[in-house]
Amino acid sequence: MTRIVGAMGERLAVAVLASGRGSNLRAILDAARGDFPARVVLVVSDRDHALALQHAERAGVRAVCLDPKGFPDRAAFDAALGDLVDAAGARLVCLAGYMRLLGRAFVRRFEGRIMNIHPALLPAFPGLHAQRQALDYGVKIAGATVHFVDEGVDTGPIILQSSVPVLDDDTEEALSNRILVEEHRLYPEAIRLFALARLTIDGRRVRIARAS
Ligand code: GRF
Repeated sequence: MTRIVGAMGERLAVAVLASGRGSNLRAILDAARGDFPARVVLVVSDRDHALALQHAERAGVRAVCLDPKGFPDRAAFDAALGDLVDAAGARLVCLAGYMRLLGRAFVRRFEGRIMNIHPALLPAFPGLHAQRQALDYGVKIAGATVHFVDEGVDTGPIILQSSVPVLDDDTEEALSNRILVEEHRLYPEAIRLFALARLTIDGRRVRIARAS
């Protein structure tokens, strides 16, 4: 079955979930300052020290720390998170270094409207420490993936990918930095395509309509 996702019209309202440094959030905020069809209306972190919250505040975007310890279980936490996203009017949820797994109810509630960025060429090296996994495996090409989120870990339909070489003397840090440059380019581009309603999920494939 083919579903059209995204929405034409005014600038798409985006919520970003981030647990840490927030460099992808910054790339999105930077893009949104220009001629861009989306704007960030909410940043949520599960960690109160997350740099991402500071980036949001500096950009004048509502920043909320939602501490999992304040909730009896994941379902309750996810429900509160979903309510925050809806109350902010966000139509797209972007995970950017968000370290908590989202439960089935959250994924279903925002089906086809959650994206994630992963520092590997999926389906290779899902989960934690993808860059280290790539080095340990000995691949010659690594990269970044933006994908829609389904109920698995890094398994949803792929929107965009970009590759980088793995060099003989690469450290995990050097490779991560090379991949990060691609991440910062890919994520705003994926959001832009979604906001312009150019993405269609067709089973496992995401088709990208030509610009009209
Ligand atoms: C990025 O490498 C992203 O691909 C992964 O977590 C990292 C987050 O980095 N999911 P940042 O917080 O956006 O700087």
